[in-house]
Amino acid sequence: MDRTVRTVDDVFELLDGLFASRDGRWATGDGAGYWDRFYADRSKPVPFFVAKPDEGLAGHIDRGLIRPGRALDLGCGPGRNALFLASRGFEVDAVDLSPTALAWAGDRAREVGVEVRLLCGDAFRLAGTELTGPYDLVVDSGCFHHLPPHRRVSYLALLDRVLAPGGHLALTCFATGAMGSELSDADLYREGRLQGGLAYSAESLRGIFSDLTEVELRRMNDEPAGSALFGEAFLWTALFRREARVAQAGEGDGSHPSAAATRAAIASRRSSSATG
Ligand SMILES: C[S@@+](CC[C@H](N)C(=O)[O-])C[C@H]1O[C@@H](n2cnc3c(N)ncnc32)[C@H](O)[C@@H]1O
Repeated sequence: MDRTVRTVDDVFELLDGLFASRDGRWATGDGAGYWDRFYADRSKPVPFFVAKPDEGLAGHIDRGLIRPGRALDLGCGPGRNALFLASRGFEVDAVDLSPTALAWAGDRAREVGVEVRLLCGDAFRLAGTELTGPYDLVVDSGCFHHLPPHRRVSYLALLDRVLAPGGHLALTCFATGAMGSELSDADLYREGRLQGGLAYSAESLRGIFSDLTEVELRRMNDEPAGSALFGEAFLWTALFRREARVAQAGEGDGSHPSAAATRAAIASRRSSSATG
């Protein structure tokens, strides 16, 4: 008999374990191995294998809703959004469980001549060590909907830790009625499977990200094959903003710089490396 639960982390590990043995997509099972096998054949007709950015993300930039700064691509896969952001002047960290996906992202980066910092591992374990932030933008296209319910808590904690005040979360995930499992959270634990990903309603996303301000939440455009952008109608595209806190008396030690401050720091690093 084992009575090992003592801390909240122990509870999370116990809950992870309920999915680990039967759902390889989740990190603590054979997550990396599952995704490595998934990415092994680059010619597979998988919609998101195309080297095109999300239409939502491209639109946010074109409309000036987000501006270049430090970005984190969470569950970047072969890096299509990370590379796009780098080509638009962002300084990009991109993390994924799968070494095979990251090798592909690295090949793509070399082909197009952009720089992205690729990090291999479980984003939640790397938060606070490799993923220090602060980031002006966190992009997640297709990672969030593969997490078990309790890991939403870790996800929100990660955002809390790394997203700069004034920074944005650009999220793409399965939409109810179109793609993903509609089992309740409790039933997912009873089944012990994540069913290939979870469907989210607009209201559930609003509830989960209620500490952030909704900038946009809509169904993704279905982009035609010839489009330069990726878009599938079974997905949500959402943009949330973390409001900049009003500084209290005695605050302002610079330990959590605002989005504007990190943008200024990047601009100054760029100009000194251009001149030096
Ligand atoms: C559906 S794929 C999307 C890939 C990429 N964002 C895209 O749209 O092309 C989901 C990705 O999330 C990654 N992933 C899942 N859980 C993760 C975790 N805890 N930490 C880091 N990456 C994770 C998987 O390895 C996989 O590459």
